Amino acid sequence: MPDALLIPASLHWLAPDDPVPPHIADWLSEIGSMTRRFEQHCREVTVQPVKEGFIHRAALRPEEAADLPDSPRYWLREIVLLGDGAPWLLGRTVIPEETLTGPDRALVDLGTVPLGRYLFGGAALTRDYIYFGQTDQPDNSNADNSGAACWVRRSRLRLSGKPLLLTELFLADAPVYRAPQPTHQEGG
Ligand code: PHB
Repeated sequence: MPDALLIPASLHWLAPDDPVPPHIADWLSEIGSMTRRFEQHCREVTVQPVKEGFIHRAALRPEEAADLPDSPRYWLREIVLLGDGAPWLLGRTVIPEETLTGPDRALVDLGTVPLGRYLFGGAALTRDYIYFGQTDQPDNSNADNSGAACWVRRSRLRLSGKPLLLTELFLADAPVYRAPQPTHQEGG
């Protein structure tokens, strides 16, 4: 996977009351599984793991270090999520080692299984907050949408009270940027 597909170092995070177009806000504030929501817009959602492994605190993004407790190691998972083969979303999950206890150790074995299948499969998930942001640079992978910044969201989640941080970047091909579809079609 080319480096250009990884979440850029520089993101512009919005203040909680900064305006966001309603259709975008509707997607970004989705509290359920984004994978399941994407599945309503394609035949098949697949996950390509880009990087999975333990990292040290020095390798965290500044906002991750600020939002996660000190830990000797963090599990990093970076993926590309595709809808019918087109890259739609970049996901970056950072999990302090202390979160990987008991059954939650299974988070290191996800591979091509979407994170949401694990997180939303149990009852122990809570969310502390969600922040919205934008890339500074446009994503030129979709010519129709080139020149526009991509939307990003960052969520601190907890599994049985134990924190993890998830950053998701919505690429130009994602249905997020399409005009909302009517819920049912009239006529032919
Ligand atoms: C993941 O599998 O890591 C994943 C999947 C969907 C997302 C974010 C992350 O929206």
